Amino acid sequence: MSSVLLTGGAGYIGSHTAVTLQADGFEPVVLDNFSNSHPLVMDRLAQITGRDMPLEQGDVLDTGWLSQVLLRHRPAAIVHFAGDKAVGESVAQPLKYFHNNIGGAVSLMRAMVQATAEGGWERPPALVFSSSATVYGDPASVPITEDFPRSHTNPYGHTKLVIEDMLAAQIAADPSWRVGVLRYFNPVGAHPSGLIGEDPEGPPNNLMPYVSQVAVGRRPFLQVYGSDYPTPDGTGVRDYIHVMDLAAGHVAAVRSLLQTPGSFTVNLGTGRGHSVLEVVRAFERVSGRPVPFRFTDRRAGDVAQCWADPTRARQRLGWCATRGLDEMCADAWRWQSRNPQGYRAG
Ligand code: NAD
Ligand code: UD1
Repeated sequence: MSSVLLTGGAGYIGSHTAVTLQADGFEPVVLDNFSNSHPLVMDRLAQITGRDMPLEQGDVLDTGWLSQVLLRHRPAAIVHFAGDKAVGESVAQPLKYFHNNIGGAVSLMRAMVQATAEGGWERPPALVFSSSATVYGDPASVPITEDFPRSHTNPYGHTKLVIEDMLAAQIAADPSWRVGVLRYFNPVGAHPSGLIGEDPEGPPNNLMPYVSQVAVGRRPFLQVYGSDYPTPDGTGVRDYIHVMDLAAGHVAAVRSLLQTPGSFTVNLGTGRGHSVLEVVRAFERVSGRPVPFRFTDRRAGDVAQCWADPTRARQRLGWCATRGLDEMCADAWRWQSRNPQGYRAG
């Protein structure tokens, strides 16, 4: 069985990917410092998969320790999820993001070089990196293909751009590197068991967790940021993708890197957009709960519409998303209603 190391594996996307990798015959190893996740995730993963998943608790910034972890597990591939992801916080504290996100990626890449030399490996493990549609900035049109110009509008987005460039430089310098850059659109939903899901600390910044917290009664109403966008109903349109589809995209990416030579950059999205009001209506329908909302001003930095052209992922990885908006809302609701306070209430 090939082992796959997941940095940030206890987080939202990492935990769902761990379950999916295991179901597909890989042996996932979770590495996390729990800076934005809860150790209870590991119990939930054991409940879902029926076995204890190996955990390495520590920080990706610790290069020496990380290279020892690599030598211990000899992973065929690494998926690098670990990092900070709050856009607003990145504007207020840019150094935190440059340090943890860019510093974390540099540390991981150096640990890979170190372990490859020390272990006498033929080449470094394959590497999959969590990038984001945020690298497209304000796209000139939709759908977005991977060759659209990249830009950034905040320090978080800037770190994704810099890391993509660092990876490209390393591939150019050493052709034995195999890297898959995955640009996620808007991951939502949860594992169908309702045992793992998205658990933001404090008021959620993103739409779906906010809607679910309103539906469960944790917050009185949703603020809809803008009603005058040039979209069919005036609210923002995004490419929401079920986190289980996203997880399957990672398995396909790992397989592709292990079986087919070369590196790639692909969008992981569904190829269709939904407005804020469509999400609210779908959530009310599947949960049977009202989601009161009020229109407010646009949020600074938001774009009107954003959705992927997922053709390249289909061609290169043989992957495409299969789950629709109702399933995303139903699974988000199962997680939220069974864990109203997230993991914290245990
Ligand atoms: P998350 O915060 O739930 O998971 C990240 C995990 O990394 C957390 O468990 C955290 O404790 C861990 N971590 C952070 N810094 C670490 C460090 N220095 N050492 C060890 N562990 C560390 O976030 P997520 O939503 O699962 O996102 C995973 C990745 O995907 C991130 O890189 C994020 O930027 C990217 N991404 C997320 C989204 C999204 O909407 N969720 C969209 C696009 C890209
Ligand atoms: C946000 C991030 C982006 C990141 C993406 C990942 C910002 C500015 N951008 O983008 O960098 O890559 O998440 O998923 O944070 N909305 C409301 N009310 C809310 C929350 C959101 O109306 O309380 C609207 C937004 O205006 C938008 C849509 O819902 O139209 C989706 O918002 P969100 O979930 O925050 O995702 P993005 O804006 O796409």
